[in-house]
Amino acid sequence: MLGRNAMSVDDPVLRGDDLGVLHGDGLFETMHLRDGMPWLRDEHLHRMFRAASAVELTLPPRAVLVGLLDAVRAGWPAGVEGALRLVCTRGPESGGPPTVYATLTEVPAAARRARVTGITVASLPLGVPAASRTALDWLPAGIKSTSFAASTAARRWARRAGVQDVLWISSDGYALEGPTANLVWLVGRTLRTVPAASTGILPGTTAGWLLAHAADLDLTADERLVTPAELHAADGVWFTSSVRGLVEVTALDGNPRPPSPNTRALQELLGFPVEQT
Ligand SMILES: Cc1ncc(COP(=O)(O)O)c(C=O)c1O
Repeated sequence: MLGRNAMSVDDPVLRGDDLGVLHGDGLFETMHLRDGMPWLRDEHLHRMFRAASAVELTLPPRAVLVGLLDAVRAGWPAGVEGALRLVCTRGPESGGPPTVYATLTEVPAAARRARVTGITVASLPLGVPAASRTALDWLPAGIKSTSFAASTAARRWARRAGVQDVLWISSDGYALEGPTANLVWLVGRTLRTVPAASTGILPGTTAGWLLAHAADLDLTADERLVTPAELHAADGVWFTSSVRGLVEVTALDGNPRPPSPNTRALQELLGFPVEQT
């Protein structure tokens, strides 16, 4: 949907030979639409341009992407939370410009519910050491790629294991991230997340904003590696992502965790609506 006119989801956008479809060769960003505006839009666009440079994908100018997002969100009811997704693929196999489009859907009820109920999580081995991905200079790390095979496999595994999400663990024993979320935990008055620069995990916009504003709740913030054993002993463990927001991990590997008294304040700081459904 490159241009000013929003189209119906029934209208064709992709060619059958689009490399996004054939090879998962593309990038995307999903933004939380609140009060009709994409929250942290500039951070998402910044991450997409950084990723595009890493995979040598030429994006349209920023103003065109902003215009596309504006066209798609125009008329969306202010009281309805939306998930605004921007997709840029490498385009047709035979050559041609990148395929660029945006979609807008209501935030799923399950995501909104998870803010209230929390989620059960199981650890899942990733099979590589924590620092391995950033050690490979040919492999772009920390990009939000449309190539989602590992994430969907992890989701299927979670369903079979009877948990709601997974936490990837490096072969040297560190917790990294979930397939679509960053890990945030509290030790005393320090809010922590996993460093993206040294591990190659996705630098999350939600976790980044939260830690940058931790002082508003009289918390300090830092980044460090963490083991599952340390997480079991933490004063709070959460997953953060743009659409679901901040959700508490209520059980890790079958060990129930007491509800954190800080969950509500963190969600309020982030500005995600939390309603009993
Ligand atoms: C692998 C991965 N980690 C973390 C996140 C959270 O990032 P953000 O807060 O920017 O949505 C996502 C988001 O989809 C993700 O796919």
